[in-house]
Amino acid sequence: MKAATAYAPGRVELLGNHTDYNQGLVLAAAIDRGLTAQGRLRTDQRVVLSSQTLGRHCELSLAEVAPSAAEPWANYPLGVVNELIMAGYRLEGFELDLSGNLPTGGGLSSSAAVEVATALLLAKLHNLEIPALALAKLCHRAENFFVGVPSGLLDQVTCVFGRADHAVFLDCQSEAIETVPLPSELALIIANSGAAHSLVAGDYRARREQCFAAAEALGLLSLRELSSADLEKSASLLDPLLRRRAVHITGENERVQAAVHALRCGNGDALGALMNASHESSRVNFENSTPELDLLTSSARALPGVLGARLTGGGFGGSAIVLVRADSAAEVAEQLAAIFHAQTGIDPAPFITRASDGAR
Ligand code: GLA
Repeated sequence: MKAATAYAPGRVELLGNHTDYNQGLVLAAAIDRGLTAQGRLRTDQRVVLSSQTLGRHCELSLAEVAPSAAEPWANYPLGVVNELIMAGYRLEGFELDLSGNLPTGGGLSSSAAVEVATALLLAKLHNLEIPALALAKLCHRAENFFVGVPSGLLDQVTCVFGRADHAVFLDCQSEAIETVPLPSELALIIANSGAAHSLVAGDYRARREQCFAAAEALGLLSLRELSSADLEKSASLLDPLLRRRAVHITGENERVQAAVHALRCGNGDALGALMNASHESSRVNFENSTPELDLLTSSARALPGVLGARLTGGGFGGSAIVLVRADSAAEVAEQLAAIFHAQTGIDPAPFITRASDGAR
């Protein structure tokens, strides 16, 4: 029977924190770690899923696709199967095995990588022509409605549209996507704060609801419609907590715009400064940092060659991203691990990554 392979990378958010579900602006990059889906068609209408990485297996009939409480990891590929069927594609039974080197729970979007690798594999096996943005959005719907994680579109778009040595700039309102070159003398380090990040947990959802409540209190469809200056003028309409949440979102949108401009001018120092400001806003306004993420980022900033550091992704744990001169990257990664381990007993397992091509 017909066999195929598909690969999807993880992603790192460079700037634009929690802006995606607020119709805002995001700057991210696909990374050089990811997941491979290998599979083949079957003649018996069975769906057979396995994950080498997790050592799990799940089997059911194509006609019975529904969320599984016993095998929650399988809900990501099953959600994609469900969305393809709902979109009117006719699927056969198939086998799919997932493997790769992308850590799960570190905020690098292994969930989007699973979804996109599954969608691409199934498209290949069934000869389906699905435009790239439609594929990203189908995977996003699978995550929102089948898995039940209320995330935005950042992860799937970056995973699909990533480009080597470029950042992906996404406008979640117009759904315009551009890639912007990253200066070649810079590198990225990703370090794990040790606290598992889980979007299914309530904090992410609570922030999302607070953002929507802030927009509603201001009579807006979304916080995207607001600049920081406008917000200052109407600040009295919001209680202090909602005001801080809104300040984070409007500030992040403006920092993304400034960062795209900085990158077009090849100004890595400006990008680093914007990343530092983003982390500070997360810490103070959005309250989605943790003591470990604060320690990781402040320790990184004190090291020679570092231009900026911030938490990346949802927050409340997960990873930090450090922008560093490429010739200092190895030294910074080593020192950062030592400093963080000495203070917390946790190995942040830093790794140097580069912006990479998207799913294929
Ligand atoms: C997680 C979500 C994304 C986005 C980020 C925060 O990674 O999956 O959609 O909301 O958090 O920017």
